[in-house]
Amino acid sequence: MEKILVIGCSGQIGSELTLELRKIHGDSSVIATDIRPPPVEIAESGPFESLDVLDEAKLQLIVEHENITQIYHLAAILSGNAEKRPLSSWEINMRSLMNVLELAREVKLKKLFWPSSIAVFGPTTPRMNTPQYTVMEPNTVYGISKLAGERWIEYYYQKFGVDTRSLRYPGLISFKTEPGGGTTDYAVEIFYDAIKKKKYKSFLSSESALPMMFMPDAIKATIDVMEADSSRLSLRSSYNVAGMSFTPHMLAEQIKRYIPDFEIKYKPDFRQAIADSWPNSIDDSVAQKDWGLTSDYDLPRMSEVMIREITKKMG
Ligand code: NAD
Ligand code: SER
Repeated sequence: MEKILVIGCSGQIGSELTLELRKIHGDSSVIATDIRPPPVEIAESGPFESLDVLDEAKLQLIVEHENITQIYHLAAILSGNAEKRPLSSWEINMRSLMNVLELAREVKLKKLFWPSSIAVFGPTTPRMNTPQYTVMEPNTVYGISKLAGERWIEYYYQKFGVDTRSLRYPGLISFKTEPGGGTTDYAVEIFYDAIKKKKYKSFLSSESALPMMFMPDAIKATIDVMEADSSRLSLRSSYNVAGMSFTPHMLAEQIKRYIPDFEIKYKPDFRQAIADSWPNSIDDSVAQKDWGLTSDYDLPRMSEVMIREITKKMG
């Protein structure tokens, strides 16, 4: 029987992934942790512990006391916020990963999931259909931490046999929990502003194409890679994954199908340079071949669900 620890359960991914893991493994088998209070559904459906992942002693206590077999380590500072506080973001992103990896080695954890990002790529990477293996020279604090993290998880797999698994998530779009300070956040904010105010000021330019994925596809991919037979995984750095690719202009056109008088203006800020250094689209054929990555949502289908669910949520 698996006993799972989720670190960062209150964030955009953790708030949905924790509930999905509880459906699969049972509510009491998934211990949710975060430095912030959890969403109500997580607090009410199973165990929650307040945890700063930099607190090695408390992390170790929970893992040993609860006989944890798998960890999903989701806590991180995302691209936009990390550029504002480079050193503390590096500290959180890297030291937290090293704490978790060392503990995984010591307690012989069965499996560890840690997400990477399209931010591992940089301005010298080919931007269209970016391959799994290519030039990687990230120029953001977040991207550098993700690339270093990929090297470390592969190292712990090769040297110590820690069963590490990872996806390079693109921008994730969801309606349950708002995103935590990344460059792709516009693709969620736009729906709230469109429904509330019928207008949106985009911090990325109209033609900034970025790879994106709707949360149900991201959750499915995460669980699929964790459940895949180890022998099927040809790499232990991190898999390219992406469900779709679009620009702010293309997204605005979709929103106008539901809100015809929606208006978008463009006022790029510091995040434009980050977006300009990332791929336009991603080749995820290795993930398809190794463990059968599929995605159910394209731009029109995702937009339809976002409009419907956020309208419902806002009453
Ligand atoms: P988020 O910012 O929404 O959530 C991160 C959570 O980590 C927050 O609830 C925060 O309180 C928690 N946290 C921060 N510092 C902590 C600490 N010291 N101890 C414990 N908890 C702490 O982020 P997210 O979007 O859910 O991302 C989860 C992971 O996925 C991150 O590693 C991120 O880099 C990666 N990722 C996300 C996206 C995306 O579009 N959301 C894309 C690529 C990769
Ligand atoms: N969505 C994330 C960000 O913008 C990508 O890792 O930071």
